[in-house]
Amino acid sequence: MDIPTYIKNSIQQVEGDAKIWIDEFLQRLSTNANILEVGSGTGRDANYIEKKGYIVIRTDIYPEFIEYQNEKYKKKVLFFDLKQEIIPDNFLKKFDGLFVRSVLNHFSFEEIKEILRRLKLVLKSNALFAFNLPNNIFSQKIIDYLKQENFNLISLNISHKDGWVYIIVSSPYPQTSL
Ligand SMILES: C[S@@+](CC[C@H](N)C(=O)[O-])C[C@H]1O[C@@H](n2cnc3c(N)ncnc32)[C@H](O)[C@@H]1O
Repeated sequence: MDIPTYIKNSIQQVEGDAKIWIDEFLQRLSTNANILEVGSGTGRDANYIEKKGYIVIRTDIYPEFIEYQNEKYKKKVLFFDLKQEIIPDNFLKKFDGLFVRSVLNHFSFEEIKEILRRLKLVLKSNALFAFNLPNNIFSQKIIDYLKQENFNLISLNISHKDGWVYIIVSSPYPQTSL
């Protein structure tokens, strides 16, 4: 990825079907929710979410994105690599919300399964997880895998305007025994 060119051409507004999806995600969370964003990039969505009063822990793997947000918005961005086996020590707690936009399309289905298994570990029970995938990469087997992992599907919107599928699921919550 040519990050300087990506940053130069990036749109800083949250709009269209992505905005509808983010707004639904936020409406389902209380404003004191802690939201982890993986792959914050230029910080567009974290800025939008924070303006609505929520707390966002921003993360990325590339120094260019981390420095861009440090310099432009004076925001701290933690290093977090989805492919690393260990959840970083600086993630002191579990999160109420997990937001991963336009990131999972960089991985194969087998990698996504592994990533989802690990991300589950940073979520509180009944937390919300929003992610998207391009139409041509999305497949029902991802939803089937999430169900197998006891996530519950909250919403799934296929955007014919921008070519992405927008998904919100909730993490498993403990079953009470009768
Ligand atoms: C297309 S950008 C999307 C950025 C932002 N979420 C957005 O929607 O504008 C992909 C993002 O995924 C991040 N990324 C790529 N590989 C990653 C990995 N292994 N772990 C965490 N983030 C990763 C990149 O650094 C970049 O911020």
